[in-house]
Amino acid sequence: MNNVINEINQRLENILSQYPDSKVKEAMYYSLKAGGKRIRPLIVLQVIRAYGLDYRKYIDIACALEMIHTYSLIHDDLPGMDNLRRGKPTCHKQFGEATAILAGDGLLNEAVNIILQTNLDDSLKLSLVSCLYTSSGINGMILGQEYDIENEDKKLSKETLDKIHHYKTGKLLSCAFQMGALIASPNDLEILKQIGYKIGLAFQIQDDILDVTSDAKTLGKNTGSDEA
Ligand code: IPE
Ligand code: IPE
Ligand code: MG
Ligand code: MG
Repeated sequence: MNNVINEINQRLENILSQYPDSKVKEAMYYSLKAGGKRIRPLIVLQVIRAYGLDYRKYIDIACALEMIHTYSLIHDDLPGMDNLRRGKPTCHKQFGEATAILAGDGLLNEAVNIILQTNLDDSLKLSLVSCLYTSSGINGMILGQEYDIENEDKKLSKETLDKIHHYKTGKLLSCAFQMGALIASPNDLEILKQIGYKIGLAFQIQDDILDVTSDAKTLGKNTGSDEA
């Protein structure tokens, strides 16, 4: 597992190194390199492995997903509430808000290029791009972030809370399973998608619990913010 994480980290570093030097590149690099559990790219690669394929051919696909996830964290921490992420000052604390917005935009834009530049079949590339951007887009994670904002300071029903979690976290977590399925076993797409939604829901519930029971040093990000 550690070894796969190292390969993901190494490839992310190579991807970033191809861009022209600039403050925004530095900010993208900073947030990606800060660490993170890499759960989404790991899921992509582990699904592929589970079907007996060589995961190494697909590391770029896993990296594209991690780039989208990292962009979502940079923007999630704006406009200045949270000041700690992945154990380091948030991107906007380190580089300023404008550059942090651009760093998020940069990761969002380049993720698609990383997929398109692989030598996979065109039809597979298109389905992976479609899956990634549908999951993170306006019927996915972005919609979930909007639901989250709209429901701040409200007493929520369980249904509403589940809906927020489903979109803001379940969609991208499920995308990891779906990308693995598209590559390794398209017939199993639907079942892996559903597994992803369930794990996504559990993951966000645990994240919210840790926000109360854990501390900033352990988690590498501010706690108490969900309740606030
Ligand atoms: C944080 O995701 C945002 C949520 C959806 C809970 P992770 O817990 O996967 O964050 P990193 O990538 O490890 O920093
Ligand atoms: C983040 O949810 C969901 C995203 C889509 C980024 P949270 O706001 O609960 O994540 P943390 O606790 O800041 O990592
Ligand atoms: Mg947050
Ligand atoms: Mg949280």
